[in-house]
Amino acid sequence: MLEKRTHSTQLTPHTPDKLPASLQCIVTELESMTSFSLSEIHDVIFDANVQEEDILAYACFGHPENECYGRVMAYDGGFFKIMIMTWNPGDFTAIHDHGFMQWGAVQVFGDAENANFLANDGKITTLSREILQRFEITTMDHDVIHQMGNSRSESFLSLQVYGNHERSHGVTDDARIFDLAEGKITRGDGGAFFAMPEDQIKKRENAPKPDYPTWLRHQVELIRRIRRCTEKYPYTGTHDIKKLVQDLFDANIHHKLITAFTEYQGEDCCTTRDSLLNWEVKQAAQLQDELLSEQDAVDSCRNYASLNDEASRHRCLRSFKQGYLNFFVKKYCVNAESVLCFSCVDYLRLSRLNASKMCNTDIRKGDSDVLGFERRASLH
Ligand SMILES: [Fe+2]
Repeated sequence: MLEKRTHSTQLTPHTPDKLPASLQCIVTELESMTSFSLSEIHDVIFDANVQEEDILAYACFGHPENECYGRVMAYDGGFFKIMIMTWNPGDFTAIHDHGFMQWGAVQVFGDAENANFLANDGKITTLSREILQRFEITTMDHDVIHQMGNSRSESFLSLQVYGNHERSHGVTDDARIFDLAEGKITRGDGGAFFAMPEDQIKKRENAPKPDYPTWLRHQVELIRRIRRCTEKYPYTGTHDIKKLVQDLFDANIHHKLITAFTEYQGEDCCTTRDSLLNWEVKQAAQLQDELLSEQDAVDSCRNYASLNDEASRHRCLRSFKQGYLNFFVKKYCVNAESVLCFSCVDYLRLSRLNASKMCNTDIRKGDSDVLGFERRASLH
């Protein structure tokens, strides 16, 4: 039976002899070397052959929701530290770097989502987003800005090793956390959490301006985290959840999507960028479905007239999808059957006539969706 640890940030460094043998191997190797290349740190982790059962004692499946994932220090070696992170379904870090860290490695024990970003010239761009496979090891240098999380349905752990030979403590202190909704970077010495508590913020500075996919996904994960935080307790942070949702699904936001697609069409790497944009839009659509399904549940006991009244307050959500639909049908002259797999039933009612005119066909269940919106089982 696993311990339901609930003190994610209560760090409990151990002496080497208390560590499992595989982690002791890592400590011994790191302490015998005076510098590292990233391939060497990769090999140290690989050769240690850490198994999930070795690190289960450090799991924190019961971490508080305002801490976006579980984090427990297994060993503090001064110029390096070994941490065990716990990722419940939906757990995501904010976009962050690792402060003073000069080298690091992460081994994941489940399918972890990892995105890398580039921040320069006052802009921040998503370079990649991928699923790291179970047991995969990824390395990182001082310049890495990334976001990690669990988009799957099973919890898993990860092993983090961070270091800087020029420091004797706090190798990841002064890390930057990017709050793109507030347009600020916060600096702190703890976890890379969304909506960081004030007492953990050392300093604020202006954040770079995000490109559309980066802004979109940040907004989605921030909303998800705040919603999870407010399931049990009132939200005490500074973000306005209603405004975040309104901004995300604003009827005019699809113009930004069109601009992003248009820009990517002219780039050599447009396939990668298109695929990335598709990934992030899919997450936005998933969140939208969650919001709408909650609305459906609330409305289930009401009569039809009151349901329509209630739905009309969420016109921005319907308009959000309607904008995407109109754009794709016009831009790519595609058959509606291959595009119109929207889950927003209200929207389908509204758009049926319009799309039928454009495509000369009825909307019905399709086999694929260009944008990646989830399909609903029954369309009305
Ligand atoms: Fe990180």
